[in-house]
Amino acid sequence: MELTVVDHPLAARLLTRLRDETTDRAAFRLAMDELAFMLVYEACRTLPTAPVDVTTPMGAARGVRIPHAPLVVPVLRAGLGLHGAVLRLLPETDTAFVGVARNEATLEPEPYMNSVPADLAGRPVLVLDPMLATGGSLAHACRLLHDRGAGPLTGVCVLAAPEGIAHIEASGLVERVVTAAVDERLDDRAFIVPGLGDAGDRLFGTA
Ligand code: PRP
Repeated sequence: MELTVVDHPLAARLLTRLRDETTDRAAFRLAMDELAFMLVYEACRTLPTAPVDVTTPMGAARGVRIPHAPLVVPVLRAGLGLHGAVLRLLPETDTAFVGVARNEATLEPEPYMNSVPADLAGRPVLVLDPMLATGGSLAHACRLLHDRGAGPLTGVCVLAAPEGIAHIEASGLVERVVTAAVDERLDDRAFIVPGLGDAGDRLFGTA
C-alpha cells in the first residue's frame, strides 16, 4: 500500500486551523473543504486520461479528458466534510454512501447505511474518511467495496494514526492512502493524538 502525506505549507496551515480547538464550526468546515481540495488533487494524480483535441483562439491544441471518473464514497458522517471538493473537481462522478458509527466501548464499526451498488467491477473508488484511527471504519467500507468488485481503492484522510495505517495495510484492500499528516498515536479511547478531536461532531454538532 502506498502512503502519501501531503506535505505543503498551505495544507499544513489548514490542518493547523482544524486542530485548533478555538476554530468554530463554520471555519472548521471551510478549512476541511479547502484541505480536501488538496488531498483529492493528490489522490487523483494517477487517474488515467485520454487525449482530446480542442481549438484555442490561436489554433489546435491537444488536451485530456478523464474517461472513467472514480466513484466517490464518503464514510458518514465525517466523510461528508471532504465530499464537496470531489464534486467540484470531478463533477461527473457518482457518489455512494456508507454509514458507520464506531462503537466507543468496543471500538468496532457499527454499519447503519449502505448505498453502494451491487456490481462495481473494475471501478476505481475514492473513499473519504477524515480520521483514520483504528482503521476499522475505513476497512469496513473498503471490504464492502472490494466484495462488489471495486478497485483500485484510494483512502482520502485528513489525519492518520500509525495503528490505522497498519490496519489498512494489513487488510490488503487499499492501494493508496492520502493524508495530510500521520499523528503520534491513539489514546486509551482510540482518539488520534494530538489529532483534532471528533471530526463528525466538529462538522455537524452532537444533536
Ligand atoms: C469517526 C471518524 C471515522 C472513525 C475513525 O467516526 O469520522 O469515521 O471514527 O475511527 P476508526 O478508524 O477507529 O474506525 P464516528 O464513528 O465517530 O462517526 P461520525 O463520522 O458520524 O462522527
